Amino acid sequence: MVAQDDTELRRQIIESCIEMNRSGINQGTSGNISVRSGEGILVTPTSMPYDTLVPEDIVWIGFSGEVIGKRRPSSEWRFHLDILRERRDVEAVVHAHPNAATSLSIMEKGIPAIHYMIAVCGGPDIRCAPYATFGTQDLSRNAVAALEGRTACLLAHHGMIACGTSLEQAMWRAVEVETLSRQYLDCLPMGEPPVLSDAEIQNVIDRIAGYGHSG
Ligand code: 13P
Repeated sequence: MVAQDDTELRRQIIESCIEMNRSGINQGTSGNISVRSGEGILVTPTSMPYDTLVPEDIVWIGFSGEVIGKRRPSSEWRFHLDILRERRDVEAVVHAHPNAATSLSIMEKGIPAIHYMIAVCGGPDIRCAPYATFGTQDLSRNAVAALEGRTACLLAHHGMIACGTSLEQAMWRAVEVETLSRQYLDCLPMGEPPVLSDAEIQNVIDRIAGYGHSG
């Protein structure tokens, strides 16, 4: 079933796209955003400059495959749809190509527990999903697997995905992933950094529950 009046949600998606580029975690139309809406998702259209978007450009795709919209959905609609279908704890998905996270993904490296803030992504690491061509069901399968028990992942030779219980939280988490990526990249020239234990990350997860955006 299509959600009743989703205009405000569509506006929030457009504002978040513009913010994604303003904050430097994305460039051009490399990213895409989705939010759960009724029994489906609202997702950005493919290849349209964000500052030209109006609410009607956002596309609705039902979990059963129905598409409603005057534009073609993002080429990455498959992983947006699959994540929001399979992860009932997730309400919004942000995909972008931020420089530091993408550099790690090019090296096929995930992020280990170098800093306690990794806990905001649900566990002691952020995995890097194996490479698959953009827009494919294989990429979606790899992304969903890499997100198991986590709220963010990298995509090899591609970029990153951040999820949230709201669009605001997914956007916040995307910036946290990029910050951790930058820190890891800065440490690597000095050698593989020491990491915090799984027990300590669990301790942090327990302590930050309800802190700020971590919900
Ligand atoms: P869209 O413009 O189709 O959303 O795709 C950009 C992209 O990032 C593909 O990974």
